[in-house]
Amino acid sequence: DETGKGQFDHFMLKEIHTQPTSLQKTLEGRLDPASGEIELDIETDLSEVDSVQLVGCGTSYHAALFGASLLNRCDVPARAIRASEYDLTTGSLTDNTLFIAVTQSGETADTLSALRQVNEEGVETLAVTNVVQSTAAREADEPVYIRAGPEIGVAATKTFSSQAAVLTLLSQHLSDIVDSGVPADNLDRLVSDMADLPDAVERVLQTSDAKRLAREYLDMNAYFFIGRGLGCSVAKEGALKFKEITYEHAEGFASGELKHGPLALVTDRTPVFAVCTDGSDKTVTNAKEAKTRGAPIVAICPSDHQIMDAADEHLYVPDRHPVCTNLLANVQLQLLSYYCATELDREIDKPRNLAKSVTVE
Ligand code: G6P
Repeated sequence: DETGKGQFDHFMLKEIHTQPTSLQKTLEGRLDPASGEIELDIETDLSEVDSVQLVGCGTSYHAALFGASLLNRCDVPARAIRASEYDLTTGSLTDNTLFIAVTQSGETADTLSALRQVNEEGVETLAVTNVVQSTAAREADEPVYIRAGPEIGVAATKTFSSQAAVLTLLSQHLSDIVDSGVPADNLDRLVSDMADLPDAVERVLQTSDAKRLAREYLDMNAYFFIGRGLGCSVAKEGALKFKEITYEHAEGFASGELKHGPLALVTDRTPVFAVCTDGSDKTVTNAKEAKTRGAPIVAICPSDHQIMDAADEHLYVPDRHPVCTNLLANVQLQLLSYYCATELDREIDKPRNLAKSVTVE
């Protein structure tokens, strides 16, 4: 039943647990592990694309950041821009820029405003959206549906995973079409790990330690989430989820930025959640700087990651293609936010002051 809470206490928890199925639907027919190919059904001619702008708000902006990182890795110049900050002078729009509006609802005023400005310029536009026939879907040149199914909880969960999955496919599709000269990003492994992602999410859901851990870190002063590259978008999304539903102060930023300001706030009452999903040891150094100041460190990483020496607690993710490892880390952080918020007795599905879709600029 798509409309009820089923066995779950909240829609948010149901939607977190729906991800194996919703991701399956997102990916259906779009990748073929047998041939190792991605088959994204886009009719728009993208062969002349020389750069990409991805625009969104809130969680969708974090998915846009994730997509931009991936495109840059394939040598397709890309930028994620907050829709509320968008005007034609913010980005270097050329005739061959592809503009991608990332919006779950397809109705967010800031995102529609950016889309409309760009439509006036006559560049190609796509809407990566969940809602069929939404305004963004109709006004963009072409909708690319994420097929996550209805999302009722105000805090977006399954739609982030599906947006990131679609943007992953799109980045590989584009890099292939525009022949960026850079080999697709470890494509065989990407395709086989993506095909297994729904099962991998299920295993994380079944074995997660987030519920126990949530109880350990109540009553703190602030919560910091750090990560690099794709892990930075996951850290930002983790912090957004956390503040939306727990009402606690949370910030997510690039690991390396910790030392440029936030470190002044670090004490033994500011846990640091370190998303260690790349091979680099820089986040380890950054986390250790916080640990020296007394901060508890929670590592979200594969078991053998070198941050484990410095970590007080661990949320496990398997070592997969970075896209998948990061999306699995995000699932762990969704659960963490959810269980902290239930411990605090918050209004999980309808947090105060927030709306599912914001139709004013
Ligand atoms: C609101 C919601 C967020 C969402 C954002 C963008 O702020 O509370 O959860 O991420 O809008 O919504 P969209 O529908 O454009 O993805």
